[in-house]
Amino acid sequence: ASTLGASAAEKGRYFGTAIAAGRMSDSTYIGIANREFNMITAENEMKWDATEPNQNSFSYSRGDQIANWARSNGKQVRGHALLWHAQMPGWAQNLSGSALRNAAINHVTKVATYYRGKIHSWDVVNEAFADDGRGSRRDSSLQRTGNDWIEAAFRAARAADPGAKLCYNDYNTDGINAKSTGIYNMVRDFKSRGVPIDCVGFQAHLGTSMPGDFQANLQRFADLGVDVQITELDIQQGGNQANMYAAVTNACLAVARCNGITVWGVRDSDSWRTGANPLLFDSSGNKKAAYTSVLNAL
Ligand code: XIL
Repeated sequence: ASTLGASAAEKGRYFGTAIAAGRMSDSTYIGIANREFNMITAENEMKWDATEPNQNSFSYSRGDQIANWARSNGKQVRGHALLWHAQMPGWAQNLSGSALRNAAINHVTKVATYYRGKIHSWDVVNEAFADDGRGSRRDSSLQRTGNDWIEAAFRAARAADPGAKLCYNDYNTDGINAKSTGIYNMVRDFKSRGVPIDCVGFQAHLGTSMPGDFQANLQRFADLGVDVQITELDIQQGGNQANMYAAVTNACLAVARCNGITVWGVRDSDSWRTGANPLLFDSSGNKKAAYTSVLNAL
């Protein structure tokens, strides 16, 4: 096929992008997004600060703008993200202990209920592990509510939307390392105790090289009985960019339980990584070598 989404679909996968509501009136941007991608993630509009700006008062207009556009154009939606230590609303930043725990679980329940039936996969918890080389949980106000906050979030999400795949999502998990192993051990524990988890998201914000065990790392998670997804792919521009995009694509295709790949933006000028030019389209919307490399790999 001649687009990323259609080619991925032929392999039983999806190919997605993050969309920013504020860019949707840009016809070049939305034209590329509509043509190439069949899975959509809201870049910021479904985060806690966006959806619950005041406690127990919910705001879905920006998230809906993206989700409704996606669905009316035949695309599926990844929900991102129910709980994360970053982009928490100010009121939640001021809570701790059981007040924060209750607010967090209420948030999960309300947002997942609102979007019930419309979400392919939810990032239920984002970035809860540290980069300390020991595979520990990140210190955060959520973590200080008790180590069971993650499983409590997954149980609440399952009750609210039994049809969505429930994912744990993180970065710096691109190979077999202390952080990815910490997450692996959590997923193994969840599966053994019946905590509802269906998938692990690998953000894959990559520099100019990638670990040689990228595919093996995906496979070891899949072997635990969860799906794996590449959720926020972007790769620093450099001599290797096109080859690395192909390598990530080939790794996903080689792992039966890899559902698909999402890139974190459309054009280089849309990227959160200013100056990295890490995406598949240049700032004018032209296909880059990396685009062709992905399409050929699919
Ligand atoms: C980023 C967005 O791209 C930016 O627009 C925003 O200012 C900050 O967040 N990991 C995640 C994403 O899970 O939500 C982040 O998105 C990038 C890192």
